[in-house]
Amino acid sequence: MPNNTERAADPTIRGAFVIDRVTGATTRGVILPPLDSAGQDARLAGVGLMSAGLAHDLGNLMQIIDAGLRSMERRFGDTVSPDVRVLSQEVRGAAQRAAALTRRILNHSRGDASEVDLVDVGDAILQMRALIGWAAGPAVRVVLEVEPHLPPTRCALAELESAVINLVVNARHAMLAGGALTVSVCRHGQEVMLRVADTGCGMSPAAVRHACEPFFTTRPRSGGSGLGLATVGMFIRAQGGTMEVDSTPGRGTAIVLTFCGAGGAAQA
Ligand SMILES: Nc1ncnc2c1ncn2[C@@H]1O[C@H](COP(=O)(O)OP(=O)(O)OP(=O)(O)O)[C@@H](O)[C@H]1O
Ligand SMILES: [Mg+2]
Repeated sequence: MPNNTERAADPTIRGAFVIDRVTGATTRGVILPPLDSAGQDARLAGVGLMSAGLAHDLGNLMQIIDAGLRSMERRFGDTVSPDVRVLSQEVRGAAQRAAALTRRILNHSRGDASEVDLVDVGDAILQMRALIGWAAGPAVRVVLEVEPHLPPTRCALAELESAVINLVVNARHAMLAGGALTVSVCRHGQEVMLRVADTGCGMSPAAVRHACEPFFTTRPRSGGSGLGLATVGMFIRAQGGTMEVDSTPGRGTAIVLTFCGAGGAAQA
């Protein structure tokens, strides 16, 4: 975990937290939809059943990926360049995160109480910097702004990581011709704010209204399933926090997750 000196030495991390307020045709608001409608619930129940089986099989594949990389590191560890070693460790880290996610799905489907970690969201983001860079892709410039000494929050670390990746991948899709992604974490009273902002295509007011509904997507032909933001919404709702959007067509989008501190619930 980087200490303060390492943070200060890293030019991509800034202590100060600045929120740019976008002006113009901006749509801004809390975007968690009400828990609802029978049709949607039935479809989600079907997805739930399938995902338990998928989680089981993906867990097995993740173990193979992890074991394969370990074996490669043992055999070629001294002969490959340090870059390749680091890359292999990062890929193994991603496989382990994925395995942790699949375990959570299986625990949930068995009715086991979910495991919750005491998390410093800022440290979690710093730990994920390589993963965020890969998820953003080569055309996007990534800046991390992390305030040190944040109050701890209670959430499942694997789900937090998955939520961040969902937001970063959405930003990447919004900036296919390139742009800038800023991931900021700061204290907001007893709460912690995580903001993922891009300079991409932005969202129409209707897209903002429906963005968190399961299966809502404007990218059906390029593989969008419309489950990314719905999953992020479920995660932050379970955490007791909130999710807001600030978006201007043609200028960009910022998604803000507010986490309640380990002591109590966030203000909606
Ligand atoms: N950063 C963003 N910029 C512009 N539009 C966005 C952004 N994030 C989300 N959206 C809009 O919200 C919709 C829903 O996002 P969501 O992540 O739930 O689904 P998706 O990205 O389309 O598919 P997937 O299930 O693969 O994530 C997107 O299709 C897009 O229209
Ligand atoms: Mg998505």
